[in-house]
Amino acid sequence: MITFTKTQLYLLNKLADGNCHSGSELGAELNVSRTTVWKQIKQLLALGLTIKGTPAQGYQLPAPLILLNEQTIRQQLATLGLNNPMQVHLYAALDSTNRFLKEVSSSPILQICCTETQTAGRGRFGRHWHSPFGENIYCSMRWHFDCDLAHLSGLSLVVSLAILATLSQYGIEDHLTIKWPNDLLWHDKKLSGSLVEVIAESNRCVDVIIGVGINVNSRSAFAAKLDRPYCSLWDITSRYFDRNTLLASLIYHLHHYLNVFIHQQLTPFLDPWEKVDYLRDKTITLYRPTDSITGIAKGIDKSGQLLLLDTKGIMHCLSSGDATLTPSSTISNDSGKEGYK
Ligand code: BTN
Repeated sequence: MITFTKTQLYLLNKLADGNCHSGSELGAELNVSRTTVWKQIKQLLALGLTIKGTPAQGYQLPAPLILLNEQTIRQQLATLGLNNPMQVHLYAALDSTNRFLKEVSSSPILQICCTETQTAGRGRFGRHWHSPFGENIYCSMRWHFDCDLAHLSGLSLVVSLAILATLSQYGIEDHLTIKWPNDLLWHDKKLSGSLVEVIAESNRCVDVIIGVGINVNSRSAFAAKLDRPYCSLWDITSRYFDRNTLLASLIYHLHHYLNVFIHQQLTPFLDPWEKVDYLRDKTITLYRPTDSITGIAKGIDKSGQLLLLDTKGIMHCLSSGDATLTPSSTISNDSGKEGYK
């Protein structure tokens, strides 16, 4: 894990305006030589930051940057009325925020971990989560629940609905959907994903790590590097977002949604889910570690399991898997003659 040195923070906050700053100007302000400034810049480059320039020409970020800041996040949370005690672990670079919180001891206080970049960001099914420096949200929260694991069935769906509520504030809700259980899509492109991991279970006590990645300020060039269609808030709105405000809103919504969930389970979320269910009535294949099932998605049951009507007319209730849309022409029923529409 890496934290910024005071000099690096000073340099980044200077360069954050997107203007060019000469090495001698920066050195004079910091009371260090131009060479020392260059050494610090090289360390920032190693974190994955793009900084144009040389000691002679000066340094410049390709675009303005607002760094994550614990104080700003806390102030925003207070504005939203959330003053509960919480511990914030904020880093310049980490392997994975989910992995980090696994090593933190269990606590009744909410533990939050955020970072500017992840070197080994993890997605579902062992996939890599691309985490370029300073552009997006990479955040995990460790929650302590005084209940059985069985009580938490459907939690992933509630997390997705909380992320959707957070993003709906930016006027983009008309095209936001959720692909069961936790892909947030905008016009079929992935905007956010979450990774929920249960890490301890004892007598009526469960710790859960909820990791959330939201593509915020990355430009579409970043999507080109990925194997599936992705998009960011910047792609949708052409606006630069202060991730501190977004993070505070995410924490606020998750806190609220999880409180409702703990007391009432999935019932209050069933109708909201139906309105944003991307898969509903589509022909899909659900891939699991050892098999796959194809059929028509028919929503979810009361515990959040996916209902899938297969080609033989059998309804399956499925608790996990990776769903993909399947062209209906490739599907046939038992006799091989008739296909789904
Ligand atoms: C997925 O859609 O496959 C889940 C993506 C989850 C990514 C987030 S980023 C913050 C947290 N730390 C991780 O290593 N993964 C999650």
